[in-house]
Amino acid sequence: MTTIGFIGTGTITAAMVAGLCAAPASPAQILVGPRSADKAADLARRFTQVTVAADNQSVVNGSDWLVLAVPPQVAHAVVSELKFKPGQRILSLIAPVDDQWLDAAVAPGRLAARIFAASVSSSTSALRSTPAWPAHDQHRLHRHRHDRRGDGGRALRRA
Ligand SMILES: NC(=O)c1ccc[n+]([C@@H]2O[C@H](COP(=O)([O-])OP(=O)(O)OC[C@H]3O[C@@H](n4cnc5c(N)ncnc54)[C@H](OP(=O)(O)O)[C@@H]3O)[C@@H](O)[C@H]2O)c1
Repeated sequence: MTTIGFIGTGTITAAMVAGLCAAPASPAQILVGPRSADKAADLARRFTQVTVAADNQSVVNGSDWLVLAVPPQVAHAVVSELKFKPGQRILSLIAPVDDQWLDAAVAPGRLAARIFAASVSSSTSALRSTPAWPAHDQHRLHRHRHDRRGDGGRALRRA
């Protein structure tokens, strides 16, 4: 029985959970974090597969696959305090991201994929509001901008 967990229950999580639950091969269980309590409760009300966990660590503990969907400004703080399970597969939607740091931070879990999909305006806003990211991320940010120019605003990187 596969359980997919989501850390961060915002716009993208709500859309993904709704899509997953409507799919013919819907996962057996979905765990969402308790933040954005209204959205989390709404998902649990609409879809029988969805359970709201008590906290972020409970989402990790109960999930086979884990989706990281918190704002980039809090990513370091949120991810750093979690203890991932060996071999746990993790999908990061967080952009921009320091790939090396994230790889290490999710160990002994495994970063299976990173997905960025943002409009120019929201991406620009995110880039301007990430002073907590290490300076060497500037290289990553430029690459991300370049990627967006090259593929019409979408970039998918597999770890
Ligand atoms: N929207 C998109 O189309 C899209 C596409 C691709 C990637 N992304 C990326 O996905 C991430 C989320 O985007 P979004 O649009 O879903 O943002 P959002 O609607 O602002 O949702 C962010 C979620 O993270 C939660 N959160 C904040 N601090 C937290 C913490 N310490 N622990 C747990 N949860 C916390 C928020 O809870 P509260 O409301 O309680 O603060 C909220 O549920 C971002 O990194 C964004 O760049 C978004």
